[in-house]
Amino acid sequence: MRSGKLLGGLVACILVMLFALAGVGGASDMGETVKQACSRCHSTKRICLNVGVKSTEGWKSTVTKMVSKGAQIPADQIDAAADYLSGLAPGDGPLCQ
Ligand code: HEC
Repeated sequence: MRSGKLLGGLVACILVMLFALAGVGGASDMGETVKQACSRCHSTKRICLNVGVKSTEGWKSTVTKMVSKGAQIPADQIDAAADYLSGLAPGDGPLCQ
């Protein structure tokens, strides 16, 4: 009984760690994608200025607008890019460097 609980706890711990790692990896990939796709026409400072200001919905409409101008973000990644942008802390990430 006791060891079964311990094992369960251990498995849960490992799962949580795996999810955390996957989350960090995914976010930094999106950071690179956004940085590359969004620095073609204007500096990423323009985006940095809006970090912490726009909501997820706001970012979704901004990214959609930029994609319609020619930003290279696949349509199925617009949501992920908006989530990434709205999740950044002001002054944070590759967009503000
Ligand atoms: C094809 C050129 C182009 C690309 C690529 C591009 N933008 Fe823009 N962006 C513009 C232009 C032109 C403006 C100014 C006109 C306007 O506000 O509609 C602008 C303005 C902005 C603004 C300030 C205005 C607002 O709506 O808040 C933000 C924020 C922004 N872009 C974010 C992004 C993001 C995020 C990406 C990547 C998904 C991106 N841009 C890629 C052309 C581009």
